[in-house]
Amino acid sequence: MTIRAAGTTPTFPAEALRAQFPALQRAGSFVFFDNAAGAQVPQSVLDAVNAHLIDHNVQRGGRYAQSMAVDATIARARESVAAFINAPRPEEVAFGMNATSFIRTISLAIGLTLEARNEIIVTELDHAANVETWLALERMGAKFVWWKMRADGCLHMDDLQPLLSSRTRLVACTLTSNALGSIVDVRAAADLAHAAGAEILLDSVHYGPHGPMDVQAFDCDYLVCSGYKIFAPHMGFMWGRYELLKRLPTFREDFIPDEPPGKIEAGTFVYENVAGMDAAIYYLAQLGRSLAGLGGAPDSRSLRTDTRFAMQAIQAYEQGLSLELACVLREHGAQIYGIDSDARVAERVPTFCFNMPGLAPRVVTETLARANIGIRDGHMYAPRLMRRLGVPVESGVARVSLVHYNTRAEIQRFGTVLGELRAAS
Ligand SMILES: Cc1ncc(COP(=O)(O)O)c(C=O)c1O
Repeated sequence: MTIRAAGTTPTFPAEALRAQFPALQRAGSFVFFDNAAGAQVPQSVLDAVNAHLIDHNVQRGGRYAQSMAVDATIARARESVAAFINAPRPEEVAFGMNATSFIRTISLAIGLTLEARNEIIVTELDHAANVETWLALERMGAKFVWWKMRADGCLHMDDLQPLLSSRTRLVACTLTSNALGSIVDVRAAADLAHAAGAEILLDSVHYGPHGPMDVQAFDCDYLVCSGYKIFAPHMGFMWGRYELLKRLPTFREDFIPDEPPGKIEAGTFVYENVAGMDAAIYYLAQLGRSLAGLGGAPDSRSLRTDTRFAMQAIQAYEQGLSLELACVLREHGAQIYGIDSDARVAERVPTFCFNMPGLAPRVVTETLARANIGIRDGHMYAPRLMRRLGVPVESGVARVSLVHYNTRAEIQRFGTVLGELRAAS
């Protein structure tokens, strides 16, 4: 697909891209506005999953062609993910079930190595996956220090600095809030953590579909992510600095070498979904090439440049969606939690938590569901954040979360239903 000829003004081809997503086509007028809980997959991802299951649905490590093909698929996917996140080495990338289980794996290993440095900094903004996993280390002697969020829904570096000391082992923080959509300046956080001799683990699950990832630019030590938010099936991947992974005392069977990635990947993972993750990265790379006016298909050498270009274009397009969404929410009297200033749009992704005055969040989501628009209500797996926002954890907030295949027309439909709801209440 060539989306624009070289030299013309780049416009983001959301409609053309939607045609590549069978779920969007089949769902008719249904609006997918719950992407923070998982995104749809393009046809090329379905094809890769199917091809894997049909042609080589066998265990890896055998000496026959189908089994060697599985090894090749995993190796290729490792290279692709490494390019996607700018990892120096593909062996630093591990595959598994999801982000939570990777944080658990890393945290348990870190728990075994706690000495005088036994403080873990956790945040008020994070998904419980990157909080509870760490709090569970209390029995192993960990102490916890809370990096609090400010009233603007953001984590500020001035607040992190005084929390760090020679006792800090690790900062566990999100790249972007899955509730408020605010982006954290993780490079600054990494610099501060490293200056104190500590490490930093980033949860990039929510940020993944919204902008370019670069573990070298972030200068993080570990990063976890979920494929199912980035147009791939349900699976997770993680990255860690080779030398740190090598030292971590993870669980592994005797016959697994004490080397990354094997020492991080306990047991069999879902190979077809790893094939799907690889295809999702190629989908993004193809988008990048098209937007750059380049012909031909992406290959492993162009993958980093092509995917980065795509993610930058997605970021720019999504800023427009954020502005439009904020405008519609304000117009209909919604209380927006977190960044609510157009001037700060670059500090957020198009994920908004809101409440309609006098209406329970579930009434809002049920009304939208009847109008064929899927959003979510509840605590967004961040109960502490809900308390901090002053909303009851049981009812929580309503959340609308967009990705690059969403359109302004969908936002307008969402606004019309909000307007009708407000008028009727
Ligand atoms: C920011 C964030 N972190 C972690 C998770 C948990 O990810 P997983 O389901 O891959 O364990 C989610 C899931 O929604 C999330 O949004």
